[in-house]
Amino acid sequence: MRSKIVAGNWKMNKNLVEAKALASEIVNIARDELKDDVKLVVCPPFISLSAVSSILGDTQNVFLGAQNCNDNKAGAYTGEISVDMLTSVCASFVIIGHSERREYFGETDDFLAKKVDTVLAASITPIFCCGEPLEIREAETQYKYVTDQITASLFHLNEEQIKKIVIAYEPIWAIGTGKTASAEQAQQMHAEIRKHLASKYGESVASEISILYGGSCKASNAKEIFSGEDVDGGLIGGASLVAREFVDIAKSF
Ligand code: PGA
Repeated sequence: MRSKIVAGNWKMNKNLVEAKALASEIVNIARDELKDDVKLVVCPPFISLSAVSSILGDTQNVFLGAQNCNDNKAGAYTGEISVDMLTSVCASFVIIGHSERREYFGETDDFLAKKVDTVLAASITPIFCCGEPLEIREAETQYKYVTDQITASLFHLNEEQIKKIVIAYEPIWAIGTGKTASAEQAQQMHAEIRKHLASKYGESVASEISILYGGSCKASNAKEIFSGEDVDGGLIGGASLVAREFVDIAKSF
């Protein structure tokens, strides 16, 4: 059985004090209300990772993630954060290749392939993001676009490695816009992604990989989106900044 995961990408929001307050609220609600078969992941900005890690403590179903890391193990890379540093604060997930990093920081498929290797070597789970911009959706070439991203950044991995990846499908036209892919559009893309993984690694391996949906997912539409057979959870931006809303999304399963 693949994991059900709801991950919150806080992006560049919440200072240290606010991050601690939000994490505490999430832990308190999740502890009382969340079923054990759903994993929550919170991804605060780097400076709050350590404090949030202490707040999560040994909470069973809330995990710590980072929003990015450097592709090198260590060295003279001013301002960067290594996988070893993430491990030292007990982060077990890291978001890789978010569309905002691809667009604003020039992260390419080849570069992300290298980053995925660095993350896996540190035994951290990459949440690998893919997704098409509006013009690709309008040209109806979205399946090729997204599966090409996956081929380029992930298909060098072996079977054991690919099983450790979580994929997040995030149509760029739905991120932070209030526009959501319909449940049917999400399911169709997730099924295409799984078929693509199966073409390289076989059905059994493909069936073990969690594929999350991201893009204006909130408590009011999560139930419908998560009803897709191949939709295993969400990568949530804006709605993850409110504890009640975030946990309610995870309760939609
Ligand atoms: P959103 O962001 O939920 O605010 O649309 C999703 C994401 O970028 O992960």
